[in-house]
Amino acid sequence: MIPYSMPDRTAVWVGDRLAALHGEMRSRRSCRSFSDRPVSRDTIEGLIAVANTAPSGANRQPWQFVAIDDPELKRRIREGAEEEERKSYGGRMPQEWLDALEPIGTDAGKAFLEVAPWLIVIFRVDWAMIDGVKYKNYYPIESVGIASGMFLMACHQVGLATLTHTPSPMRFLRDILGRGENEKPFLLIPVGYPADDCTVPDLPKKDASQVLQWNR
Ligand SMILES: Cc1cc2nc3c(=O)[nH]c(=O)nc-3n(C[C@H](O)[C@H](O)[C@H](O)COP(=O)(O)O)c2cc1C
Repeated sequence: MIPYSMPDRTAVWVGDRLAALHGEMRSRRSCRSFSDRPVSRDTIEGLIAVANTAPSGANRQPWQFVAIDDPELKRRIREGAEEEERKSYGGRMPQEWLDALEPIGTDAGKAFLEVAPWLIVIFRVDWAMIDGVKYKNYYPIESVGIASGMFLMACHQVGLATLTHTPSPMRFLRDILGRGENEKPFLLIPVGYPADDCTVPDLPKKDASQVLQWNR
């Protein structure tokens, strides 16, 4: 065991910091039109270091982040994503789902996957072999979800845009990237700067009072 404490924050500081943080995070949006402006490897490594601080079941850290800037790999990933998305939009998704997506304005075209400087594929690791022994990971879905959220937040905090993308089924990502059977593609996240003419849908967000219940 090692000592642990939090810095002493005054109530005023907490209120100001929360207001600032809310303001910053309210401006995060999913981006579907990227510029090709480069982002350094050091930046990507730093972002993943932040995500890697996430809590996880039994501290197993059941995730792998695969960072891709190779144009040929990006082309193959776009091809794989568009193939799945054409099937999804062309009949695999029920009408109710298509109706829910209508205000967002998405379709099967995913050109941004070749334009964004980086594609980050987050894999959920369900088990690991260590010295010939198979170790199960605990709560891998919850754990990788938290790490992914921290990654998105870190990107936004350093001024980088992201899209949380799930061109499902995503098995093609494991095949293209040659990952093991114990790893399941969790999210495909393009990272970069928005294109100069990028627009996003004007979507409402629930007020905190609609999602917060006190003592019941
Ligand atoms: C688990 C998850 C999967 C998503 N999958 C896709 C996707 O495949 N394609 C897409 O364009 N957006 C996808 N999104 C983004 C949502 O459409 C977006 O978060 C939502 O419309 C709210 O917009 P905002 O992120 O700009 O606030 C996904 C988001 C989440 C959390």
